[in-house]
Amino acid sequence: MHFTCLGCNATFPLTENIHTCPRCGGLLDACYDFGEASSWKSVWLERRKSQAAADRSGVFRFREILPFLSDLSLIASLGEGNTPVLDAPAAARYAGIDRVRFKHQGFNPTGSFKDNGMVSAVARARQLGMRLVACVSTGNTSASMAAYAAAAGLRPVVFVPRGEIAMGKLAQALEYGATTLQVEGNFDVILKLVFSLAPSLGMYLLNSVNPFRLEGQKTIMVELMEQLAWRVPDWIVLPGGNLGNVSAFGKGLREMRDLGLIARLPRLAVIQAEGAAPLYHMLRDAATALTPVDHPQTLATAIKIGAPVSWPKAVRELRASNGVCEVATEQEIADAKATIGRCGIGCEPASAATLAGIRKLAAAGTIRADDDVVAVLTGHVLKDPEYILKYHSGSLEANGVRLTSKYANQPKPLPADPEALRKALEATAATG
Ligand code: F0G
Repeated sequence: MHFTCLGCNATFPLTENIHTCPRCGGLLDACYDFGEASSWKSVWLERRKSQAAADRSGVFRFREILPFLSDLSLIASLGEGNTPVLDAPAAARYAGIDRVRFKHQGFNPTGSFKDNGMVSAVARARQLGMRLVACVSTGNTSASMAAYAAAAGLRPVVFVPRGEIAMGKLAQALEYGATTLQVEGNFDVILKLVFSLAPSLGMYLLNSVNPFRLEGQKTIMVELMEQLAWRVPDWIVLPGGNLGNVSAFGKGLREMRDLGLIARLPRLAVIQAEGAAPLYHMLRDAATALTPVDHPQTLATAIKIGAPVSWPKAVRELRASNGVCEVATEQEIADAKATIGRCGIGCEPASAATLAGIRKLAAAGTIRADDDVVAVLTGHVLKDPEYILKYHSGSLEANGVRLTSKYANQPKPLPADPEALRKALEATAATG
């Protein structure tokens, strides 16, 4: 087991406490000599009958594919993973394709896919004997880290851009007991600051630059493939912010293919918000490096990121899978989100970028109507209730422009009067 640097190919023992390459500063992959994997599928299935915490974890049930942890007592599981794959016919019609399925990571204990990565990276922090853990976050990472650190008896410190994260996420960080520092600056500025300070302050950084976050998140793909009976879909669609998740998915998929667990790779499609789309611009312009967006803008605050740390890994995975990157406007995200809501599924704004992107890629002929498409909804509908209430009251604004609330559903005030009630219900019945 070793780290390999994506920049200079140097290798380092996996026992070292490093996040990036000590030689060139490049991103690190956790690499393993896996050995024989022919029994893994049945071992993983068998564990579903077990009541042991490590087996009930939707991450460590697949522990053969993240073998850095041998001492299972270091795992503080909150029952992460185990998320459903949901059919959404109305969303498919909206996107103009035959079928779309959502792998909904909002069903996680803190309501986002970060829990898959956090259970793994917090176990790693304990393996290294670190006590103080930190992250910079647009909200979900901080909520998740706060919960997992609390469960593991570690001290969590979160850094968030002041006034820029959704209410549900801030509330979670406070409730789980994290020291919550609201910094005047955007995500990219704060991450740069904290990344340089973390080692000297004795803080173990749990952002997705930490390879062990990605090790946990790659199991989202393992669980998905098991749910699909190991039949590989044509497309996996996900939103892109700091680009950790696409890096994790790509690594997991390549490892599964190399191990013979799946026959081929699905194509990855990353969807970015139009005002925070540096990867989209890089690929569109066939540039060799990413140019950061200095002032990223989007109401999908989770992906309001202009300088994504994991872009080299994301590019690698898009190349390996013949993947694509698309953008969605604020209006497209809002409409797609309301559509997912009307399916009875719901998600936070960033997650809805997936459906908006599928619709565009289908219109362009990149995704075909009969393609098998799985989109990953990354966060729970209740993460950002403010966005929802504004949308339905027709007051959602992006960059000073009022968005159209095509699917608005406004609450109706009513006096405590039987006649008024009857009239209101008759009106509802009339609309079918
Ligand atoms: N969707 C949601 C709901 C997120 O919270 C994030 C990232 C993403 C998508 C993008 O994933 O960064 O791996 O490309 N949230 C981070 C955070 C940045 O701090 O919670 P990515």
